[in-house]
Amino acid sequence: MRAGLFISFEGTEGCGKSTQIQRLAARLSGLGKSVLLTREPGGTEIGEQLRELLQFSQAGHAMCAETELLLFTASRAQLVREKILPALDTGTIVLADRFLDSTTVYQGVARRLDPAQVHAINRFAVGHCLPAVTFILDLDPTAARARLTSRAGAPDRMENQPTAFYDAVRSGYLALASEPDPRFHLLDAARSADELEAAIWQEIQSRLT
Ligand code: TMP
Repeated sequence: MRAGLFISFEGTEGCGKSTQIQRLAARLSGLGKSVLLTREPGGTEIGEQLRELLQFSQAGHAMCAETELLLFTASRAQLVREKILPALDTGTIVLADRFLDSTTVYQGVARRLDPAQVHAINRFAVGHCLPAVTFILDLDPTAARARLTSRAGAPDRMENQPTAFYDAVRSGYLALASEPDPRFHLLDAARSADELEAAIWQEIQSRLT
């Protein structure tokens, strides 16, 4: 049993994950807790190079779904060993902006790769490192798109998919949330940021030592 607490945040682009991670981090830091924020893909030198390839580079446009799966999980494998496990060992609370459930949903459901193979590759990449708590922020894809288009900057490769892709992402997350795994907490992300923050804090507070 590791000393820290591992919490991941999942959901479609524009669901408000980053805002909630920032708010939770501020509350935890205010209590004197040590906090590590991670984002995927990326978070290590190797991971940042993979992020560039996966999201921004011209070369990425020719990428097949199998390569995409392996690069996302490669980035995560590095992040787990280089950052997450050492942090958990020293009692740090890790807040992950996406973890293996993103691969289950984006590559296994939306890209329609074989779910059993995606599961096996996912597990190989993370070993025994799984979040204790995973918040799934559920938002209608149209509302999520509207939030995204109001953001600065051009969409990256993963934000430029057809509508059916984001519908599949949403149903993939809803299917995960309906599994009997107590780590999943489904939250309605159409609520205000303050309401969401309160719901997340209520869940986390009881787990703090
Ligand atoms: P984000 O930084 O805005 O969350 O973007 C990450 C993008 O990468 C997002 O479109 C989801 C996608 N993604 C996958 O397809 N599979 C994965 O395993 C991960 C971590 C992200």
